[in-house]
Amino acid sequence: MNPIPESVLNVKGQTRYIDDLPEAKTLLHAAVAASPCARGLLKGVDAGAALALHPSIRIITAADIPGVNQLGTAVADEPLLVAAGSEWGFRGQALALVLADSVSLARRAAGLVTFSFDELEPVLDAREAAAKGLIILSPRTQAMGDTAAAFASCATVISGRVESGGQEHVYLETQAALATPAEGCAMRVISGTQHPTGVQEGIARVLGLPMHLVEVEAPRLGGGFGGKEDQAALWAALACLGARVTGKPVKLVLSRKDDMRMTGKRHPYSSDFRIGVDSGGKILAFEADYYQNSGAICDLSPAILSRTLFHAASAYRIPNLRVTGYMCRTNLPPFTAFRGFGAPQAFFVIEAALDAVSRRTGIDGAKLRRQNLLCDGDSFHFGMPVENCRARLSFDRLVEKVKWESLRRNIDSHNAKDPLVKRGAALMPICFGVSFTKLLMNQGGSLVHVYKDGSILVSTGAVEMGQQVSRKIARVVALAFGVGIERVRVERTTTLTVANTYPTAASTGSDINGMAALAACQEIRARLLVEAATLLGAPAPELSMESGRVMRNGSPTPLSWDELVTRTHEARIDLSAHGFYATPDLVYDMKSERGSPFAYHVYGCAAVTASVDVLRGTWRLDSVSVVHDGGESIDRAVDIGQVEGALAQGLGWALLEDLRFDEKGKLLADTLSTYKVPDFHFMPEKVDVEFLEGFPNHRAVMRSKAIGEPPLVYGIAGYFAVLDAIAAARRTAVGGEGPGLYDIPLTPEKTLDCLMGARP
Ligand code: MTE
Ligand code: HPA
Ligand code: MOS
Repeated sequence: MNPIPESVLNVKGQTRYIDDLPEAKTLLHAAVAASPCARGLLKGVDAGAALALHPSIRIITAADIPGVNQLGTAVADEPLLVAAGSEWGFRGQALALVLADSVSLARRAAGLVTFSFDELEPVLDAREAAAKGLIILSPRTQAMGDTAAAFASCATVISGRVESGGQEHVYLETQAALATPAEGCAMRVISGTQHPTGVQEGIARVLGLPMHLVEVEAPRLGGGFGGKEDQAALWAALACLGARVTGKPVKLVLSRKDDMRMTGKRHPYSSDFRIGVDSGGKILAFEADYYQNSGAICDLSPAILSRTLFHAASAYRIPNLRVTGYMCRTNLPPFTAFRGFGAPQAFFVIEAALDAVSRRTGIDGAKLRRQNLLCDGDSFHFGMPVENCRARLSFDRLVEKVKWESLRRNIDSHNAKDPLVKRGAALMPICFGVSFTKLLMNQGGSLVHVYKDGSILVSTGAVEMGQQVSRKIARVVALAFGVGIERVRVERTTTLTVANTYPTAASTGSDINGMAALAACQEIRARLLVEAATLLGAPAPELSMESGRVMRNGSPTPLSWDELVTRTHEARIDLSAHGFYATPDLVYDMKSERGSPFAYHVYGCAAVTASVDVLRGTWRLDSVSVVHDGGESIDRAVDIGQVEGALAQGLGWALLEDLRFDEKGKLLADTLSTYKVPDFHFMPEKVDVEFLEGFPNHRAVMRSKAIGEPPLVYGIAGYFAVLDAIAAARRTAVGGEGPGLYDIPLTPEKTLDCLMGARP
């Protein structure tokens, strides 16, 4: 018996996703008829041609919605289906749902639905939207000190512009849901979501039901990466609408192309910065304006912008800082959560600013960064004290590990000799706050059953999406009971077992759900130990559980786990418990923008080396070295995998993935043959990940640290490594004076432009 078969099945290609589940005989397949242009006023739906295709075809529109046609939470701007008489906001927005006997029929019919509409002028650019007043909610500013006064005393002040593009999630499993009508008005849904309660809430609203009539199960996902935090609700609610209207089970699985066109991605940002340093390179002041391209719907944009502002200074001490973010409403798909959640965009801006300082002043980039790193005793610009800071520690360890000085010298001497291939290197620290930026979301629950044969079942709100949160939770539970991990089974996530959960996101999956599981285990464990005390005639405080046995003062007793469980049950004592955890000590006041919104920070440092082919503009990543602060890992192999995966995604965002829309808001690369993602050949041969050892984190479960998102940010070092190589090729135009080119992704196309002097 292997209770955690996740990785084995994945490697063998045997994992079952929603589209692989057995199908009911009466199942109907769904497809979505979507808006044909970026902005339009819907006047009517013509289903004639679609209906003529096959007798099984049904067309469902907004008029069929029994409850409220609204999924938006922060802002009511997200209809389930756009109603006649209303505007749509992006190309690919759902206008009608099509049902049929087979998926091919449903998709063909969706293509035959036509709409009468007035096409309206779209706005695609964030700055243009801001200029036109198309701002979601209101701009938000965080500040510390007095930047105006500080700039006046700086030896060097530089301003510049920074662009970063979007990023497609490319989860293996596209958005999917399977809805089955149950007794009465109840609805059972299997949804590929990171947020089962959110999906439950959305469905309840559009069907006009109380939440207790809606059950949402989230099976293991074929990846989420943030794309299924908010945006799985739409597809699940559509499937439910179809199921409600027809009384039959309905499955909606997006084709890859539809998924790429219709769903949100990482937010593109366009930012302005101003940085000032003293003659030695100490940062005195920093200002930034972030224009977040939020897309057509608010979605998670406020929480994402929040994380951008919190990470504006990265791991650096900046005594005078003022940063403002604007959520710009455009006619592009609703941009959403993506690993890093607004932080990578902020990191890129401050790293670009430091790069500009280094180029202008000639101060070595590594020296400049090191002297400005945060230390214990400092505080973040929102007032949170810096504690257990491992910025210098990881920085210095990395510099030593990669022998930075000699590495730089080797690169310089190579570059002096080789006119055709230039090499470059870059180094960057990270400092990533862990906790949901929205305070209320930092809570979770669990349900633990110990069965009378000694096997254990755990349910939490955590969704498994490949990050092995289930394995981590199983480890926590096994350790709490002192049994082998094979005794523990982590049950699929459903709103029936644990209610009112928040998404598995913000890298807090195991922090929050592991703690909630532990709370339940501790309750059961205490009951078991009381029974053990009776059975052994020993005081309970002398007893513990280890290696499947009750221990007294650390020595084995004859009482095994199995026997203890059986005897406790026979004594009519409850072997189940519900656990709950709310991250302690979080406070934040949105008005004054002051508080401690994070449980702790994750630190680390990365060095990347790259080579550029001067004639072709192509680059190659040569090496990545990372020193990462991961606390005491619950599972080191999993954590290494998470760092490597995040690195690949971060490097892909920084250098490769080119999310482009044409002037009418049409996504240009909407297939995996045209949208390039990082692969085996893209990654450098040498990826060296080292964890800081001996630094437990007392603010998370089993002294661990969240791992999922922070290492993505290391990808930015890849950008600057390539830029450094370009600068070596063109000392004057790109290097030397003035800011370099700060425009993610640094594709070979852009690199070639740079080499030829076409940019910046
Ligand atoms: N790893 C895999 N394999 N698949 C994923 O979808 N999502 C990432 C990260 N690692 C993801 C992943 C994101 S965006 C987050 S927030 C965390 O995992 C969520 O899981 P955790 O909180 O349990 O680490
Ligand atoms: N990270 C990820 N998802 C979130 C967050 C966050 O900080 N806040 C709300 N949803
Ligand atoms: Mo991750 S972007 O917080 O799902």
